[in-house]
Amino acid sequence: MTVKKCLFPVAGLGTRFLPVTKEIAKEMLPLVNRPIISYGVEEALSSGCEDIVMITGRTKRSIENYFDRSFELEEILKSRGKLELYYKMIHISEMAEMMYIRQREPLGLGHAVLCGEPVCKGEYFGVILPDDVFVGEVPVLSQLVKVHERLGGSVVALEKVSDNDVSRYGIAAGEEKEPGIFRINDMIEKPKLSEAPSRYAIMGRYVLSPEIFPILHNQQAGAGGEIQLTDAIRELAKSEPVWGVVYEGRRFDCGTQKGWLSANIQLALEDEDLRKVVMDIVNSQK
Ligand code: UTP
Repeated sequence: MTVKKCLFPVAGLGTRFLPVTKEIAKEMLPLVNRPIISYGVEEALSSGCEDIVMITGRTKRSIENYFDRSFELEEILKSRGKLELYYKMIHISEMAEMMYIRQREPLGLGHAVLCGEPVCKGEYFGVILPDDVFVGEVPVLSQLVKVHERLGGSVVALEKVSDNDVSRYGIAAGEEKEPGIFRINDMIEKPKLSEAPSRYAIMGRYVLSPEIFPILHNQQAGAGGEIQLTDAIRELAKSEPVWGVVYEGRRFDCGTQKGWLSANIQLALEDEDLRKVVMDIVNSQK
């Protein structure tokens, strides 16, 4: 019942970050002092996953390089006596078993997940969309894994959103079986407000049954002309339990320039050393 593999679909074009993402992976942009992607990878590892499977595209090589050894840099750091940094670099390359699969065309999130089939076939697996960075006492993926271990089936993370935000997300509805835990029976990707079945949006964390793969194989393009994961999960919910869990913790949406900037400022304000830097800048503007 445990979840050992975690997929990271990172092959999207990142159009909301253009022109930066023309050549740079948005997942490598810094969030305070380390790349956005490292938050998701640490969450997966602290949720019990051992294998990290990145579904990548052609502008994402820097992610591979980041989690690999960098002999030249390491030797220079060592020879200059910068041992703390040296061990930090080694740790990044040893923290997880990494695998990379190319999604040749960005046909949608559902298609990206399907690209992970050769590695995840036959077992439940986690999915992390690294744009959504969660901060809290209990890693959000592990909150989902616990529900999967207790109740079986697939699990998605839910957050209640305002009417204005409904059309930005996949919206799920179902029967509340326990406080904050819904048995999902409907899901729509980016609905109009009038068509939304609830105000609960699916955020970027999932535990999925391997039965999602045959569904994705037959999935037609949905909203935005993309093969949507939401459509496949709705189909899955007809034959197997899919749970929606209202997660505990705080979410930072780093998929947009405004969200990323605001996450950097908020997290810097919570850092002992950086708080003063930010406050000094703000005060100097008055
Ligand atoms: P988004 O819808 O946020 O798309 O994808 P995006 O390309 O990252 O960014 P925008 O919307 O163009 O600015 C949600 C997640 O699914 C991945 C993305 O990398 C992101 O982690 N994805 C999306 C893929 O891996 N492949 C796809 O074909 C589409």
